[in-house]
Amino acid sequence: MRVAVGGNLMDARTVSMEEEVIKLIDQRLLPGEFVIFEARDYREAGFAITEMVVRGAPAIGATAAYAMAQAQMQGKDLEEVARHLRSTRPTGHDLFYAIELMLQAFREGKDLAKLAEEYAEDSVRRCRAIGRHGLELVQDGSRVLTHCNAGALATVDYGTALAPIRAAKESGREVFVFVDETRPRLQGARLTAWELAQEGIEHAIIADNAAGLLMARGEVDLVIVGADRVASNGDVANKIGTYEKAVLAKENGIPFYVAAPVSTFDFSILSGAEIPIEERNEQEIRQVGGELIAPEKSRVRNPAFDVTPVRYIAGFITEVGILKSDELSVLKEEAERSKGK
Ligand code: MRU
Repeated sequence: MRVAVGGNLMDARTVSMEEEVIKLIDQRLLPGEFVIFEARDYREAGFAITEMVVRGAPAIGATAAYAMAQAQMQGKDLEEVARHLRSTRPTGHDLFYAIELMLQAFREGKDLAKLAEEYAEDSVRRCRAIGRHGLELVQDGSRVLTHCNAGALATVDYGTALAPIRAAKESGREVFVFVDETRPRLQGARLTAWELAQEGIEHAIIADNAAGLLMARGEVDLVIVGADRVASNGDVANKIGTYEKAVLAKENGIPFYVAAPVSTFDFSILSGAEIPIEERNEQEIRQVGGELIAPEKSRVRNPAFDVTPVRYIAGFITEVGILKSDELSVLKEEAERSKGK
């Protein structure tokens, strides 16, 4: 992605590795500061995932791939490294997909550094293909609502839900994006709005609870969100609040699409009921920007994701095309193919 830092335009990737150091755009600090976090071993990479220096399912997957490669270069016990990385965040599937891929390659005696680089490149290619396929949904003048951040920052580059929007902009179409602020970590307000501003894409940040009114008034044409894990039947785990947007979209006759690459699909589970939902710490809800906004002693629940049943989803924008839920077996074949590469 092109970013303006201190008045200079530069190309940046969310995740990369240079000479055994994993480099991550520190997403805890955006939009205020653009800082690169350096993970020098797998424990630092694990910290970066848990603390959300890096977040978004495909970006987490790429970080894990690099962490496995780095560990091989440093002569670490790869089975132990895999165990540690698997314990960082439970919901997003890409993390587990990338770890298994690298572990398998390691057992076959392969060079993981080369493989991790290919994994990252492949991830960008898949996001661009999602953009190309999703382009047919985004007309000139479309008003699209999105939740959380499923942009370049949530991937290695280019994004999933934001990919068709970027592609539409690149092909000269005018697009307007409603950005849910996305409590409690504000990935929409902090990250999606920042990305869209960098790209010169028109947008407005809305409070999470404003979507219903705007939909009912006919101000939203289309919803596109990303995914953390998609079950075989098409149920989708994504950032908390996604489910209610999907229900509101159906109620108001607005198509609701999920954009995701093959690495996010978990064909080992039948439905969303089997997806583990991460519960994060209470302070994320009690505090905003480090300031207490609720009684310190009140109990808090902080589930980070919810599950949208497949009946609310119009289709899946993937790297192989826009699929209905009964066409997902095409992707299963793609998963087998990409694992066997
Ligand atoms: O908790 P996060 O910020 O990692 O959650 C991210 C999301 O829910 C994204 O929508 C999802 O990972 C898709 S990213 C292309």
